[in-house]
Amino acid sequence: MEDKNDEVKKTKEKLTDKSKKAEEKAAKEAAKAKERAEKEALKAKRKTARDSERSKKMVEKLAKKKAKAGIYAETIENVASSGTSAIHYLSPEDNPNLEITDDTILVVNNLTKVFHKKGQGEFTAVDHVSFTLNKGECLGIVGESGSGKSTIVKMITRLLDATEGTISLNGKDVTNVKGKDQRELYKNIQMVFQMPFDSFDPRHNLGCGVGESLRNNGMSKEDTNKRVAELLEMCGLEPEFASRYPHQVSGGQCQRAAIARAIAIDPEILICDEATSALDVTVQRQVLDLLVELRKKLGMSYLFISHDLAVVQQICDRVLVLYHGKIVETGTPDEIINSPKDPYTKNLVESVL
Ligand SMILES: Nc1ncnc2c1ncn2[C@@H]1O[C@H](COP(=O)(O)OP(=O)(O)O)[C@@H](O)[C@H]1O
Ligand SMILES: [Mg+2]
Repeated sequence: MEDKNDEVKKTKEKLTDKSKKAEEKAAKEAAKAKERAEKEALKAKRKTARDSERSKKMVEKLAKKKAKAGIYAETIENVASSGTSAIHYLSPEDNPNLEITDDTILVVNNLTKVFHKKGQGEFTAVDHVSFTLNKGECLGIVGESGSGKSTIVKMITRLLDATEGTISLNGKDVTNVKGKDQRELYKNIQMVFQMPFDSFDPRHNLGCGVGESLRNNGMSKEDTNKRVAELLEMCGLEPEFASRYPHQVSGGQCQRAAIARAIAIDPEILICDEATSALDVTVQRQVLDLLVELRKKLGMSYLFISHDLAVVQQICDRVLVLYHGKIVETGTPDEIINSPKDPYTKNLVESVL
C-alpha cells in the first residue's frame, strides 16, 4: 500500500515538475517574442526615420534643381530676346569643328550603328553622326522614316550599343555605361515616345506611372502624391487625372501625363521621339505649346525628333537634317527652310511648303 502511495506521490511530483518546466519554457518564449517584437519595432522606427530623411533629401534636391533651372530659364529668355543663336559646325568624319562651350551638356561624336541583318549582311543605320546640345537648347533632328533618328536616340539612352563613336554627358563618357551609372544617366535624360499609351502600364493609374521614378528614388508616398498633382497641373491636367487609368483618357491627355512622368525627376535633357506625331493637328499644337512652356519654366534641353520639318520649325532653335543615317545639313529652322543647300533638304522643304 505504502509502495503504491509512494508511486502516486512520485508521479504527482513528476507531473508538477513537468508543468513547471513547461511554464518556464513558455515564459522564456514569451520573453524572447517580446524582445523580438521590440527589436522589430525599433527597426521599423529607424526605417521610417531613414525613409522620411531620404524623402526629405529628395524633395530638397528637386527644389535645388528647380532653383538652378530658373537661372537657365532666364538665360534662355535672354538668348531668345537678343536674337542670337549659337551655330555649331559639324563635319561627318573627323570633327575639328565640333564646337563645345561651357554650356554644352551633350556631345555626340562620330556615332555609328551597324546592324547585322541575317542573310543581308551589314547595314549602317547611323553613320558618323556628330552634334552637341547646349543647356536650355532645343535641337531638332529631322529626316524621313528610316533615316536613323530613333537609332540615335536608342544609343544615347543605352537601349542599343553604339558600334562606333562616343556620347558624353556633362563631360562624362556615357557611351557604354551600365548598372548604377546607367541609372544615373536616366536621371538626366528622359524620353517621351510617339505612342502616349506606351509610357504607361494599363493596369495602373496615371498617378502611379507619373510618380514611379520618384518612388524609385526614395520619395515617400505622401510627398510623391503631392509632387504628382503638381506635375499633372504643370502639364495642364487636373490632379484628379492621377486616379484615372490610361484607357480613361484621350491620346493628348495621355501624352501630357507621359510628359509629366518624364519631367518628374527634373531631367536635364528631354528627348521627344516623334512625340506629337500620333496626335491630331490641334492636339499636336497644344502639346507643342506645353513643351515650349515647360522649357521656359524648367530650363531643360530638348532633343526633338520628327519626320515633319513644319513641326520642328515651330519649336527648335537649331536643326540637323538626317538622311540615310548621315547629317546632311545643319542650321536654324529659318536657314534650312529659306536656303536649303543639300538636295535632300530641298526636297524635304518642298514637301512641307
Ligand atoms: N534592331 C534593328 N535591326 C536591324 N535593323 C534595324 C533595327 N532597328 C532599326 N533598324 C533599321 O535602321 C534604319 C533606321 O531605323 P530608325 O532609326 O528606326 O529610323 P527612324 O526613326 O528615322 O524612322 C531602318 O532602316 C531600320 O529598318
Ligand atoms: Mg523613329
